[in-house]
Amino acid sequence: MATAAAHQAARTQAAHATSDATGTAPGQAPGTAAYQTAFDTAVAAEERIEPRDWMPDAYRATLVRQIAQHAHSEIIGMQPEANWITRAPSLRRKAILMAKVQDEAGHGLYLYSAAETLGTGRDELLDKLHSGRQKYSSIFNYPTLTWADVGAIGWLVDGAAITNQVPLCRCSYGPYARAMVRICKEESFHQRQGYELLLALSRGTEAQHAMAQDAVDRWWWPSLMMFGPPDDESSHSAQSMEWKIKRHSNDELRQRFVDICVPQAESLGLTLPDPDLVWNEERGHHDFGAIDWTEFWEVLKGNGPCNEQRITQRRQAHDEGAWVREAAATHAAKHSEAKHAEAQDSGANGKATA
Ligand SMILES: [Fe+2]
Ligand SMILES: [Fe+2]
Repeated sequence: MATAAAHQAARTQAAHATSDATGTAPGQAPGTAAYQTAFDTAVAAEERIEPRDWMPDAYRATLVRQIAQHAHSEIIGMQPEANWITRAPSLRRKAILMAKVQDEAGHGLYLYSAAETLGTGRDELLDKLHSGRQKYSSIFNYPTLTWADVGAIGWLVDGAAITNQVPLCRCSYGPYARAMVRICKEESFHQRQGYELLLALSRGTEAQHAMAQDAVDRWWWPSLMMFGPPDDESSHSAQSMEWKIKRHSNDELRQRFVDICVPQAESLGLTLPDPDLVWNEERGHHDFGAIDWTEFWEVLKGNGPCNEQRITQRRQAHDEGAWVREAAATHAAKHSEAKHAEAQDSGANGKATA
């Protein structure tokens, strides 16, 4: 909200620029330069950009793309874990898992709402997801083969998500930053339940320990890929950092995640499947092995083990939910009609008694 004053000043300046054509770069509409200056100043001063503030078209488009991909990942991410709700080994585990999957639906809602503040409706975004024009995180195209996968997803996938998302709480766009605060709190619970689940398995029977180890072996590398391509191949990174949408590079965040996970794996009594993983005294970080980026690009192109299944199930859920959306819209229309009639009545009564 701190941008209000700066933007008000820019509006006044822009209005002057419109009348005397000053402060206008060649090819720009009169006044745009003043708005751009106000935007740049606000971003540089760590102020938040709010929905009614002027912003460059490319900033808006970048945010819509990123928030949409994030929202899609939240709702597609419900599928691999929901797969285990009916087979959770105890009532306690089932209740925890259901709460977690519901949280992910909630995260989707906050994020679609954040995208709406940028002028892009949920219908449009869902349509793009269903037609393959927008992506979701590739991690959810891997199958959940055993109960231990629920633990590995919580510990590693939600853990990687937190590493990525904590800096987004300081994102320059207000509604996105504020949504991330709540999301990160819930993601911490997800990470902890996964860790605790794996710990129970790791300390259980030999077969349970082996199941936990197998899940970690399969989820480790895809989790590292969640941070996106290496910095020198990441097309959007530099501009996003300049706009303070992003605060750290993909490689920085990936390194941070590896450094966090190594001691946690030790406490779990599990190993990370990387023979090259070693502490580097000089760098003060862990070195780790080469990531198979061919696999990443293949999964991204749609050739992962579950791409087809995930999107088919999503489309089906959307179609099956049509009656709920229609009922909600009809109810809302009736409600607003009733309110309108009530307001008219009280207005008429007011006149009658006046
Ligand atoms: Fe989430
Ligand atoms: Fe989560």
